[in-house]
Amino acid sequence: MDASDALRTLEEELERGLAGMAGASTLDELEAAHTAAVGRRSKWAEVQKGLRSLEQDDRKAVGQRANDVKNSLDAVHEERKQSLREQAEGSLLDADAVDVSLPGRRLRPGSLHPLTAVEDEIVDVFTRMGYRVVEGPEVETDWYNFQALNIGPDHPARTVKDTLYVDVAGRSDLLLRTETSAMQIRTMEAQEPPVFIISPGRVYRRETSDPAHLPVFHQVEGLAVDEGITFGDLKGTLLEFAKAMFGENARVRLTPDYFPFVEPGAQMAVSCFICNGVGCRTCQGTGWIELLGCGMVHPAVLENVGYDSERYTGFAFGMGVERVALLRAGVPDMRMFVEGDVRFLEQFASAG
Ligand code: PHE
Repeated sequence: MDASDALRTLEEELERGLAGMAGASTLDELEAAHTAAVGRRSKWAEVQKGLRSLEQDDRKAVGQRANDVKNSLDAVHEERKQSLREQAEGSLLDADAVDVSLPGRRLRPGSLHPLTAVEDEIVDVFTRMGYRVVEGPEVETDWYNFQALNIGPDHPARTVKDTLYVDVAGRSDLLLRTETSAMQIRTMEAQEPPVFIISPGRVYRRETSDPAHLPVFHQVEGLAVDEGITFGDLKGTLLEFAKAMFGENARVRLTPDYFPFVEPGAQMAVSCFICNGVGCRTCQGTGWIELLGCGMVHPAVLENVGYDSERYTGFAFGMGVERVALLRAGVPDMRMFVEGDVRFLEQFASAG
C-alpha cells in the first residue's frame, strides 16, 4: 500500500460510509453501515494497519486523514442514531395515542362527608341572612373558653373531667376548646358592634363515645350583637333556621335552660320532622326534638370584651353538627360518622 492508494481508499470509504448511514432506516441498519465503514474488518481498519509500512511523513499524513474520516463517520453515526431513536419513540407514542372512538372511562367522583355537608348547609342558612363566617383556633386559652364567657374558676364545666388540657412547657392555661362559644369573645374583642357571625368548628370533650356522644365533635356557633336586639329576634332567627333545615312546617319551642354566658338562657326544640309533632320514636313520643342551646348574651360577657352593656344587647346560639346530621338522616349511632366505612358514607353521596 502506498500513501496515495491509502488516501484514495479513505475517501472512498468515507463516501460509502456516509451514504450507507444516510440510507439506513432502522437502528440495526445504521449500526451495520457504521461497522462496515470503520469496524475491525473494514477497509479503514486495513489502512490503519498498513500505516506501519509507510514512510514517516506519509504515515503522519495518512494517519491524520484516517482520524478525520473516522471522526466524521462517528459524528454522523451519533446524529443519525439520535434521530432514528426519536422516530422510534414517536411511533410508540402514535401506538399509544388516544382512540377517540373508545367509550369514556367512568370517573368515580368523591363526595362531601355527611358532617361537612350538614355543616355547610347550616352555615349557608345564616350567611344568606347576612352573617359572616369566622373560624378560630382549636387550642384555646382559659380566657376565651371559660373566663370571658362568664365561666368562673369554680364552674363545674372547668374540671378536668370535661376538659382536655394541653401540656405546653410553662403554660397552664391552654386547652382544647370545649365549645365554639370561644369565638364569640375573639370576634367581639376584634370589632365593634354590629356583630353578626356564624362560627363552625371542631370541639373536644373528655368523654367516652356512645351512640349520642363523641369526644371530638363539631358545633356551629351564632352571635348577633347590636343596639336593640331582643329575645324575639332570637326566636324569629331560629324559626327561619328551622324552616330552612327541616321544612316550612317546622315550629320551634324555647324552654328555659342555663348557660353561664347567656341570660336568659334557653333550649330550642324543633317540632319533630318525622311525625310532625304527633309523637314517634325519633322524638321519643314528645313531638319535639331538642336541637340547640341559646340565649341573650350575658351583660358580663359584653363588659368582658369592652362593650357597653347598657347600649348593646345580643343573642347567641350553639348547636352540634353531629346531632343535626344524625336526626335528619335517621342514623342510629353518632359513631358511624367517624368510622370511615365507605358503605355508610356512600349513602350520603349526592348524585352528579
Ligand atoms: N356552647 C353551648 C354548648 O356547647 C351552646 C350555647 C351556645 C348555648 C351559645 C348558649 C349560647 O352546649
